[in-house]
Amino acid sequence: MNGGITELTIRTGSPYPVWVGDGLLRDCGELLARRTAPCTVFLVSDDVVAPLYMERTAQAFAAAGFTVVRHMFPHGEAHKTPETLMQLVEHMAQAGLTRADIAAALGGGVTGDLTGFAASVYQRGIRCVQLPTTVLAAVDSSVGGKTAVDLPAGKNLMGSFWQPFAVICDCETFATLPPAVYADGLAEAVKYGVLCDPALFARFEGFSRGDATADLIARCISIKEQYVTGDETDHGKRQFLNLGHTPAHAIEKCSGYAVSHGSAVAAGMVLMARTSERLDYASEAFSDRLAALLARFGLPTHTDFTARELSDAAVSDKKRRGDTLTLVMPRAIGDCVLVPVKMEELERIFEAGIDG
Ligand SMILES: NC(=O)c1ccc[n+]([C@@H]2O[C@H](COP(=O)([O-])OP(=O)(O)OC[C@H]3O[C@@H](n4cnc5c(N)ncnc54)[C@H](O)[C@@H]3O)[C@@H](O)[C@H]2O)c1
Ligand SMILES: [Zn+2]
Repeated sequence: MNGGITELTIRTGSPYPVWVGDGLLRDCGELLARRTAPCTVFLVSDDVVAPLYMERTAQAFAAAGFTVVRHMFPHGEAHKTPETLMQLVEHMAQAGLTRADIAAALGGGVTGDLTGFAASVYQRGIRCVQLPTTVLAAVDSSVGGKTAVDLPAGKNLMGSFWQPFAVICDCETFATLPPAVYADGLAEAVKYGVLCDPALFARFEGFSRGDATADLIARCISIKEQYVTGDETDHGKRQFLNLGHTPAHAIEKCSGYAVSHGSAVAAGMVLMARTSERLDYASEAFSDRLAALLARFGLPTHTDFTARELSDAAVSDKKRRGDTLTLVMPRAIGDCVLVPVKMEELERIFEAGIDG
């Protein structure tokens, strides 16, 4: 067993462990065996991740006494659909999976969201293990229990809250990430610094590729844990995790989803930082510092869409409740507040962040 493992506990209704370390895909069977008797593991990956990591993962589960059934689907957001979900669930049924068995998501956020959702509906719910292989999945989507697929009308419109049974994060897998996918995850990681941890933010300012080490990932997950605990279904403090996400979802939508989520979050955070300074929410000037950091990671810090286009797109955002929406307003690095705004105010707010 690998020596350097960090273990965190996510204190949701049914608490679960997150194990973070290097080389953990080789230990995943032993780790899971700490939590459950041998059963069938339905191992899901996309066609990019499967050739890289499925074999070693399947072998590790088998060596610990689990029976492994493999499932592969085509990679990319375009396949996070009800059709892919149905194929997955049909395969679970054909494989004779029972409620004693486990679905395991080996991959990025698409694999995690899809597999988590399938696990939540198959036989009214079976256990799900998340094995994130992107920085984004590691610091964000694998923890917290949000699962979904996309509909033609919008992203993540069909889904569930389904907390994982365990999360096993092997940071060695980040070595094979394309630079743009790596950077997408850093956008979400920087978000935690802006939310509540100036020291983490400063650490990113001295960051170079390869520094997404286990302790840094673990710090990000522990911050997410603080916001999810006690608000699993996103009605209270969990909303802070949407920093930058109202403009980000609008940017993604306006681009026909050509702009990736992490890139949109980067541009969205800078927009909110500029808004905050111009509308006097900010307690200090920090938007240039934020933009400089994100630009260094190769992330966008600006959007070409107009405030009108973005606010129109945001009107159909599922985070909206009636005619108001809660914005996360950054006031400084490490300090954010929730601000309820009327939908009709949104264009003016975006305008302030886009201008000049
Ligand atoms: N559930 C949540 O709380 C939550 C939070 C944030 C984002 N998300 C969702 O996550 C998705 C984005 O996640 P993502 O950026 O991980 O996307 P992704 O899963 O599509 O992965 C990006 C690309 O990287 C490839 N890849 C994954 N791991 C790799 C590795 N180790 N080496 C080489 N290539 C690898 C994938 O095949 C894919 O082509 C979106 O659908 C978003 O809605 C969910
Ligand atoms: Zn996000």
